[in-house]
Amino acid sequence: MVPIGPGIKRRFQHRLLKWYREYGRDLPWRKTSDPYKILVSEVMLQQTQVERVIPKYHEFLERYPTLQDLAEAPAEAVRESWYPLGYNIRPLRLHGIACETVARYGGALPKNPDELLSFKGIGRYTAGAIRSFAFREDAPILDTNVMRVLHRVFVGTGDPKAQKARLWALSEALIPKGRGYDFNQALMDFGAMVCTARDPYCLLCPMKDVCKTYPFDPRKP
Ligand code: ADE
Repeated sequence: MVPIGPGIKRRFQHRLLKWYREYGRDLPWRKTSDPYKILVSEVMLQQTQVERVIPKYHEFLERYPTLQDLAEAPAEAVRESWYPLGYNIRPLRLHGIACETVARYGGALPKNPDELLSFKGIGRYTAGAIRSFAFREDAPILDTNVMRVLHRVFVGTGDPKAQKARLWALSEALIPKGRGYDFNQALMDFGAMVCTARDPYCLLCPMKDVCKTYPFDPRKP
């Protein structure tokens, strides 16, 4: 574990949530509590940028408004409906998840992490996203963006990919009780809008004085 003092932790939580209240994005999958719709958004977002996902998300849900509708559709039609998003295994995985959910869980996505992880196409990140965004649990998430933010702020050295266990533990330890939904959405937006991969906006960053990487040096590996 990365030792973080309670003061730093509280400051990070408070500032991230404050930043999110002011600058958080108004995204369509944040206007629903339907686990199926949140699953669709998360599968689309696994490999595709937010701007490209938004129109496709609406189109897909117009065609398959419920998990049952998706499960009843022919796999080939679902695959075709994914166009032009790449990685065509994703619609088939999503269709498989819908079919299995109907067959094994009466059509309602399970909350349980082990059950979620048993689906092909749901990894640790997506399970955490569904638990926190659909079921409002304080479950951790770690995708490339979150990994970059946590690594820069709290670790500062070495390759983030080689420190995944540590970063998962951090992601879990940082969630303010009962605020997993906002905190995780905020981490996503912060990684996409401030703590970006190239040329992060360090001068505007509210984490300046707690960040192990501030000021970011693009010449460092
Ligand atoms: N990428 C994956 N999940 C996301 C979400 N809920 N909001 C923004 N970007 C995301």
